[in-house]
Amino acid sequence: MYFYSCKYTYKYSSEIWYLLVKYSNLKRLSELNILSLGCGSCPDFIGIDTLQKELNPKKSIKYCGIEINKDWRPIHDWIKSNTSNPFEVKYKDVYEFLDNTDSFFKNNSPNIVIISYLISELLRSNSNIINLKKLLIKNILNRLPKDSYIIINDFNRGLSDVDPRSHYGDIGNMAKEIPSVNVYSYHYAHSLSNYFWYHNQHPKNNILFTVNPKISKFNPWQFCSSAQLIIEKL
Ligand SMILES: C[S@@+](CC[C@H](N)C(=O)[O-])C[C@H]1O[C@@H](n2cnc3c(N)ncnc32)[C@H](O)[C@@H]1O
Repeated sequence: MYFYSCKYTYKYSSEIWYLLVKYSNLKRLSELNILSLGCGSCPDFIGIDTLQKELNPKKSIKYCGIEINKDWRPIHDWIKSNTSNPFEVKYKDVYEFLDNTDSFFKNNSPNIVIISYLISELLRSNSNIINLKKLLIKNILNRLPKDSYIIINDFNRGLSDVDPRSHYGDIGNMAKEIPSVNVYSYHYAHSLSNYFWYHNQHPKNNILFTVNPKISKFNPWQFCSSAQLIIEKL
């Protein structure tokens, strides 16, 4: 787990950060009230929290992660004691959470839902991805307020049903059945090998942090390479 965090935090947090501040309508938002499904070690929050001072305009930030694996708890506790932003993780199966989001939406008003590297993980364990897509539309997108976003970020692989990106089209089409919804797709250039062109390419793919020498032995990823689906509810 600590290896995972050292190896991927710069990359995964940069992949989300680019979206929030540079290349989309997301940068307009004055508040980032984030719900992160399958949050793991929360690289999405770590990036936003660390680079917060670069946000223009300044935004209020609040984060809730949903995560099945309590082994991440020491990292969550560390994050909690090192941030001044409201941060919490609920230890729950994402399907159970999505099945009934009533009480969550009664007490929280997320305007950004992040699903980063969860779909690939669920596909690896043969989870019911069809159900996930339905619940995501019915119990998340339907309930989100105006001016909110779902961000799906995962490996840029879409050759077969076991690849996360092959589900983006389906999710996008289901989302577009709801009025006032736009869907955008992005990918990062992959500098080490041939990569797949997937709609819009981000102009840059470098990570947005300087690698701490203490963790360079873990050989952290130094560039972004994901494919992203952004669902915008206007
Ligand atoms: C590859 S990690 C990605 C974590 C994080 N989103 C990131 O960007 O680094 C996938 C995470 O999803 C969690 N996960 C897998 N199945 C889950 C489920 N059914 N409910 C909630 N979390 C789940 C795993 O425990 C793991 O932490």
